[in-house]
Amino acid sequence: AIDLAGRHFLKELDFTAEEFRGLIELAAELKSAKKSGAEAQRLRGRNIALIFEKTSTRTRCAFEVAAADQGASTTYLDPSGSQLGHKESVKDTARVLGRMFDGIEYRGDSQAAVEELAAHGGVPVFNGLTDDWHPTQMLADVLTMTEHSDKPLERIAFAYLGDARFNMGNSYLITGALLGMDVRIVAPKAYWPTEEIVAEARRLAGGSGATVTLTEDVAEGVRGADFVATDVWVSMGEPKEVWAERIEALAPYSVTMDVLRATGNADVKFLHCLPAYHDLGTGVGRQIEADYGLTELEVTDEVFESAHSVVFDEAENRMHTIKAVLVATLAAPAVDG
Ligand code: CP
Ligand code: NVA
Repeated sequence: AIDLAGRHFLKELDFTAEEFRGLIELAAELKSAKKSGAEAQRLRGRNIALIFEKTSTRTRCAFEVAAADQGASTTYLDPSGSQLGHKESVKDTARVLGRMFDGIEYRGDSQAAVEELAAHGGVPVFNGLTDDWHPTQMLADVLTMTEHSDKPLERIAFAYLGDARFNMGNSYLITGALLGMDVRIVAPKAYWPTEEIVAEARRLAGGSGATVTLTEDVAEGVRGADFVATDVWVSMGEPKEVWAERIEALAPYSVTMDVLRATGNADVKFLHCLPAYHDLGTGVGRQIEADYGLTELEVTDEVFESAHSVVFDEAENRMHTIKAVLVATLAAPAVDG
């Protein structure tokens, strides 16, 4: 078993492949324990603060259910429900919450803010998404890949299509490189991760044996892929005016049935962290279509609703994997025998 007692969970680059794999294994154990009604509570009496400066369905619920399953309590602080950012600095907030809570989750735009909380809180801090990284999402995605593939991780190929300069693209590139996978970023060059992040990925690949590919060519990028992933073209915190440029640049990278066929793999699976825009006929899709003439989304409804799609397994796995992070960092060591 891995020992991450007292550690933060801020970004994938802070972990070794062994630690990351250990979290996936722990999540799989916790998932099967819950399903068989045999889950042992290892976080009784622990208190966890959940700071959300951006909205959330999955991440918030995953932390709350995971904590409750393990006997811990949570306090949810929404963007308007605390002094943070309005009347009080991140550093002071960290020093206050660190006196009351055993762990702090933070979602916001700034990676610097979550790092500052970690520097001053004195307790483990968990990144629930920043503009730069979405590390708890990566645990869920890798667990989902292991469940939907017979191959060992280092033989799995996955392609991410879309805006790769943001949290999801960055995290996929680094996670794939760390774990020795065949990771492809498929996007217009202007939407690739920064040179620094690509250099980090290549450095990691040197040690892990990963294959790192960045390409603008969809057919080349997805050929032989076991998994195809995408994300929204406009992320939280971005102005909605950028839809127009995103549609123009990214429409060729929309995940369609043709893209899945181009993998040459009849069993290819589709991943999306959600929320997804996949249905022009309803809700947000219709609004974007009305405002921007959008006729293509990051994924078609046909793909999203197909047997290739494993997005709801992926969403469920947010909970099991976040539970693994909480147990690994906050639980007293298990007593063997
Ligand atoms: N995937 C994800 O982080 O979803 P939420 O924004 O709903 O938390
Ligand atoms: N890139 C998206 C991910 C949402 C989970 C965003 O930041 O809004």
